[in-house]
Amino acid sequence: MATILNGKSIVLGVTGSIAAFKAADLASKLTQAGALVDIVLTRSAGEFVGVATFAGLTHRPVSTGLFESNSELGIDHVALARRADLILIAPATANVLAKLAHGITDDVLTATVLARSQPLVVAPAMDADMYENPATQANVKTLISRGVHFIGPESGRLASGLVGNGRMTEVPEIIGHVRAILGRSGDLADRQVVVSAGGTEEAIDPVRVLTNRSTGKMGYAIAEAARDRGAKVTLITAPTYLPIPVGVNLVAVGSAIEMQKAVRNACLESDLLVMAAAVSDYRPSDPSDNKIKKTGDDGLSIDLSQNPDIIAGISGERLVKVAFAAETNDVIENADAKLLSKGVDMVVANDVSAADSGFGTDTNAVTFVRPGREPETMPLMDKFDVGNALLDRALPLLK
Ligand SMILES: Cc1cc2nc3c(=O)[nH]c(=O)nc-3n(C[C@H](O)[C@H](O)[C@H](O)COP(=O)(O)O)c2cc1C
Repeated sequence: MATILNGKSIVLGVTGSIAAFKAADLASKLTQAGALVDIVLTRSAGEFVGVATFAGLTHRPVSTGLFESNSELGIDHVALARRADLILIAPATANVLAKLAHGITDDVLTATVLARSQPLVVAPAMDADMYENPATQANVKTLISRGVHFIGPESGRLASGLVGNGRMTEVPEIIGHVRAILGRSGDLADRQVVVSAGGTEEAIDPVRVLTNRSTGKMGYAIAEAARDRGAKVTLITAPTYLPIPVGVNLVAVGSAIEMQKAVRNACLESDLLVMAAAVSDYRPSDPSDNKIKKTGDDGLSIDLSQNPDIIAGISGERLVKVAFAAETNDVIENADAKLLSKGVDMVVANDVSAADSGFGTDTNAVTFVRPGREPETMPLMDKFDVGNALLDRALPLLK
């Protein structure tokens, strides 16, 4: 899976917080995603995690001092500042925030930051009292006013044993923010994209639902792909176990009727609607107000009513519509029929009965079906890459 991190140059500044050990995981995950990660350690950070850990994880030299230059870089701070696409400081101490706010450059990290023109992202970590201290708060305010991106800190149990605001944000979320910031000027910049995801739940009674095997992975991957290309994304999701993607506007719904309402609202001003949700075709006609009890040996019949076809009923002046067609047989024929019956610009057909494709998997094999064009069958791909392939094909259709 190739995200926006692939090939990007990221300077990761690590400062002297107890959370410095988490920076090793962060450096590893960024490197695994294909980023070229240059670590800059403050002297205090070196007391917590050593150079060897970071050099081993990133396969690159680690900068530790203004006067201990890596020969490859010449003057480290200037070279790092020039080649970085983004500078991230995680964890960021109270001390480094104070120095940044006042333009102090007494180490290689603060000097690199002062010499940069790229986005600066900081993830503070400190004791709650240090964070709430008026001096720190004033520094945070100053840095925000200068366009520095803050991630966290979060509330929770701190290393001191106290509970409060000061925990460093977890690594996956930091990476989500970095991706969103790197993608801001992408080819979907300022486009409004609505994505639906997950399997709707239709109430039978207060404790039981009629649903399907959709996990939401496909829709969530499309939402992240669109966010990474600069889109403003609204993700309308039926219940899933997936983490909420950073930087998208999440609207949680249950039933098909609720999803229809949310999609309608979100599409009023939108450029693109991708319906990746598995919407129940039917719902119980008369859900019981009370839990249905077992009665002897009798079976139970439930009357079903048809749900509305969400995408067919939605139109917008500039709205481009993409529907998914999850099929188990006659995949292309059924997708072709949907193209007409739903009045959509593209159908993404997938055979949910195939191995490694469809519900719950991390990969999908799809065919793009568009009016007047031969169906385009893609190889088995990661769902995120399918999302990007879909967006590549939707982009020229946008009005
Ligand atoms: C065990 C220990 C844990 C620390 N944890 C933090 C922390 O989480 N956040 C913080 O701002 N300072 C923390 N400090 C204090 C910093 O290490 C200290 O302010 C140092 O000067 C920071 O230097 P730097 O910003 O150049 O890395 C800690 C100190 C010790 C000894």
